[in-house]
Amino acid sequence: MSCWTEPSCGASPTLSRHHQPPGRTRCSASSSSAERDGSNEFANYQPGSLNTTDRLVEDLDNYDIVFHIGDMPYANGYLSQWDQFTAQVAPISAKKPYMIASGNHERDWPNTGGFFDVKDSGGECGVPAETMYYYPAENRANFWYKVDYGLFRFCVADSEHDWREGTPQYRFVEECLSTVDRKHQPCLVFAAHRVLGYERTSPLYQSQCVSGERSHYSGTMNGTIFVVAGGGGSHLSGYTTAIPKWSVFRDQDYGFTKLTAFNHSSKKSSDGKVYDSFTIHRDYRDVLSCVHDSCFPTTLAT
Ligand SMILES: [Fe+2]
Repeated sequence: MSCWTEPSCGASPTLSRHHQPPGRTRCSASSSSAERDGSNEFANYQPGSLNTTDRLVEDLDNYDIVFHIGDMPYANGYLSQWDQFTAQVAPISAKKPYMIASGNHERDWPNTGGFFDVKDSGGECGVPAETMYYYPAENRANFWYKVDYGLFRFCVADSEHDWREGTPQYRFVEECLSTVDRKHQPCLVFAAHRVLGYERTSPLYQSQCVSGERSHYSGTMNGTIFVVAGGGGSHLSGYTTAIPKWSVFRDQDYGFTKLTAFNHSSKKSSDGKVYDSFTIHRDYRDVLSCVHDSCFPTTLAT
């Protein structure tokens, strides 16, 4: 999964944990399923899966909602794998909202309306996923939806359908981002599937790094932080040898990302420890509404 947080996930002076659910969230992709009895159904394709599930279950009291952004069981048409997966995550999904998205292994099949003409779903075409789990999409054949929870708004996109300008999904994303009430949901997260591994960027705006800070962001934010959190279980992709200027942290390990709406986000690795974290304490000045020599002092989030 990759998600980007619009730089506003910080403490709002008018809200506290006592007023709303704090919105502690776990995000990951490609968690998938694996066998506890040591059998090996599928070439050990998801070596981090059970560990990710176990680490999350251990800490479940500290989460309010869980997002699993695609490639859930890697069933690829073998429905028994869906049974195994749903049983594996039942300790989580029985207690917390378990929000899903579509990955290539849920959806892709040639000539079925998806964006990629490949056979990654084994012919599932998204049907088991949309049947197994609820998500508040207007058209459940398309996996894009928005949901507000605590201080968060999540815009969950469907990487397996076209989202280029002029498409219905483009209009959804635009509408989701532009209609958030920042007074109630100052934290805005966009999430979509694809890319395996973990990497976090500097705040970026129009392809440029706009801050040299690495971990604790404060004041007027004028960029977006991108987080690739695709280490839930399946094999990890490699990195380029060159480290781009925008890359702040890489972690070649399994794990998941915990977002806390007050002021803290971190990535937990396979041993349950945190090796990367960052905070955003935002000045709510709306930099996009600046005129030539001044900015409006506040936004709706104030
Ligand atoms: Fe995938």
